[in-house]
Amino acid sequence: LYALDPIRPQFHYTPYQGWINDPCGLIQWNGKYHLMSQFNPAAPLWGPMHWSHVQSPDGVHWSELPVALYPPYPSNPEDTSGRYTGSAVLNKDTGALQVIFTDASEVALHPNTLPEVVSSAASSDGITFNLSPDDPIIAAPPPNSTSGFRDPKVFWDPTDSTWKMVVGSGDPHSGKVQLYQSTSSELTSWEYIGVLHSGDGSTGTMWECPNFFPLDDKWALFYGGNGVGWYEVGSYNGTTFTSEHLGLLDAGPDSYAAQWFVDDAGRNLAVAWMGNWDTSKWPSRVNGWAGAQSIMRELFLREDGGLGSRPVSEVAKLASGPASSLGRKDVHGTVTVGSSNSARLQVSVDLAESNAPAFTIQLFASSAESVSLVYTFANKTLTLDTTQAGQGQGGAWSASIAKPANDRLELDILIDRSSLEVFAGDGTAMTVTVFPRYQESKDIKIVSHGGKTVFEDVVLTPLGSAWV
Ligand code: FRU
Repeated sequence: LYALDPIRPQFHYTPYQGWINDPCGLIQWNGKYHLMSQFNPAAPLWGPMHWSHVQSPDGVHWSELPVALYPPYPSNPEDTSGRYTGSAVLNKDTGALQVIFTDASEVALHPNTLPEVVSSAASSDGITFNLSPDDPIIAAPPPNSTSGFRDPKVFWDPTDSTWKMVVGSGDPHSGKVQLYQSTSSELTSWEYIGVLHSGDGSTGTMWECPNFFPLDDKWALFYGGNGVGWYEVGSYNGTTFTSEHLGLLDAGPDSYAAQWFVDDAGRNLAVAWMGNWDTSKWPSRVNGWAGAQSIMRELFLREDGGLGSRPVSEVAKLASGPASSLGRKDVHGTVTVGSSNSARLQVSVDLAESNAPAFTIQLFASSAESVSLVYTFANKTLTLDTTQAGQGQGGAWSASIAKPANDRLELDILIDRSSLEVFAGDGTAMTVTVFPRYQESKDIKIVSHGGKTVFEDVVLTPLGSAWV
């Protein structure tokens, strides 16, 4: 059925029906990757929050599991009660898959009764979760938090060998990340340490979905604020973080609420919601679903000190047929690469030998519409332009790409029916949802403007379904 829906992504997680937003509870547990999501099964609209649940042997092929968490009783469609975003951890004492999350109970209906609190649930089979008898495990925000208190993310802190937790919060002037330390092996009792980091207001006054982790000899923090996913890289002394580098986790419009985790191989991985609160008025609602999760991304420190990402190598396992390759080619004008809306396109350009001012990669293209990805040589800028494509948000988003030492610009592009993820070799990511108007809009073309662009190679690989 999924394959028949022309706008449903094939190799990205989407809910069988209803709405999803933030990825939750990411973990590799007993060998399997688990991906849970903020989920409203009743309608393709945000509503009472459940956690949907899928698992995977390799991080790219998924199978459905029953709903992991249900909203607290009572719940009705106008009630914003729910189990909001949270994280997962292996409880080393019990072996359980433990989730630690936000309980938001009837905040809108009874604004002054119950604030957002932190709760916990554990599972011994990785399927059925039992709420902690100690719930809520953090019953109130610290007094310096006035604009929200949610999205607990648990992590192991090697600086003092303890379990710590960051929670998103804020006040009228700045976003804040609150830091807690575990005082019990059940991970159900936590001591408040203080504000790990706060902003100057320019990145929002309520920071959602914080994540904090060591990366090489630095620490990386990322969070959502003002509808944008920000990262900061810097140093950490066990209680506070000093930021040295601020940037965007993704330069496109449809990436928010990313969650980080470490897998058994020690990789720092993340999945983001391929959506955003402002852009999420998707035409897929007529087909009963809304929202998709990004491909799993590996995080790394960029050469300029920022936080970069690339798709996990397992994406290669999604290939559904042989790749076609253009080989080294001097391009003047337009060359058609192929026709597919479920594929990976890997492009390498010889910057030293090209003399055109710009080249374009056209995606989801037909005579009626297309998405343009334009690279301008002089200012090393990549622009993703959806103004001539599909339904949904039209716009143009740009990022400057660091000049590669070997003069090869590498672009790795994942095309999936109604989404595009673009990864440049320097660690830049750009994600956008696009809903083509016509099923014919699948062409992939490269265009060199006003001169020659030397493509080292252009490789198109058809990708198949993530569902097993
Ligand atoms: C982020 C967010 C979280 C919250 C969840 C509710 O997108 O607003 O802060 O926990 O969505 O679904």
